[in-house]
Amino acid sequence: MKKVFIHPKALVETRSIGPGTKVWAFAHVMDGAKVGSRCNVCGHCFIESGAEVGDDCIIKNGALIWDGVTLEDAVFVGPGAVFTNDPRPRSRGLPEAAPRYARREAWLVRTTVRAGASIGAAAVILPGVEIGAFAMVAAGAVVTRSVPPFGVVAGVPARPAGWVCACGSGLRFSGDRARCSACGKAYERHSGKVSFSKARRNP
Ligand SMILES: CC(C)(COP(=O)(O)OP(=O)(O)OC[C@H]1O[C@@H](n2cnc3c(N)ncnc32)[C@H](O)[C@@H]1OP(=O)(O)O)[C@@H](O)C(=O)NCCC(=O)NCCS
Ligand SMILES: [Zn+2]
Repeated sequence: MKKVFIHPKALVETRSIGPGTKVWAFAHVMDGAKVGSRCNVCGHCFIESGAEVGDDCIIKNGALIWDGVTLEDAVFVGPGAVFTNDPRPRSRGLPEAAPRYARREAWLVRTTVRAGASIGAAAVILPGVEIGAFAMVAAGAVVTRSVPPFGVVAGVPARPAGWVCACGSGLRFSGDRARCSACGKAYERHSGKVSFSKARRNP
């Protein structure tokens, strides 16, 4: 079984970290965070207690992943991407806000990124959204709503900006069908939902 590589200057407090994962200098993975196998956690990332990272994820430098955030397998998180888990944050020292922070469930709002999706550099993901499988969030986007599988979103606030193949190339639909010009995979769309084509053989 492959070993975990932890750079001597990384701070890794969790024991839940899968074989083949590498954690680079100045990354901090807290106790209680879960990181799967064969991940790459680059310098200056922060992964908080309660965050869950699947297998084969790439988390580029300086990304911030908090409690309540789940990344499924093979998710890419770009440099400086920021997740959030509190939609209406206040200082816990503020007397008016104390009741809100008495129970975790009262303020913590969860976010899930489905398998194969990518988050662009410096994107901000607001709490409570689901980023669908193989979706792509543009660099610098602020995501306030869920993104469908294979969807591309861009801007502030992020808006739908097209569709993307599992390989990462843009997809153009003709009616409710598309074939990727880069890898040949076929897709179909039913009631606005995109999926791999069942009718046509896929490479
Ligand atoms: C601004 C904020 C408080 C608004 O919350 P809200 O009232 O529940 O807002 P809604 O989700 O109903 O969104 C209202 C509109 O504003 C937009 N919007 C919300 N937050 C936005 C943001 N940060 N940037 C740009 N647009 C934003 C939404 O897209 C929506 O517009 P639309 O209907 O045209 O898409 C919240 O979205 C936010 O940014 N909270 C801060 C979270 C944070 O930074 N936490 C840090 C600690 S984890
Ligand atoms: Zn493709």
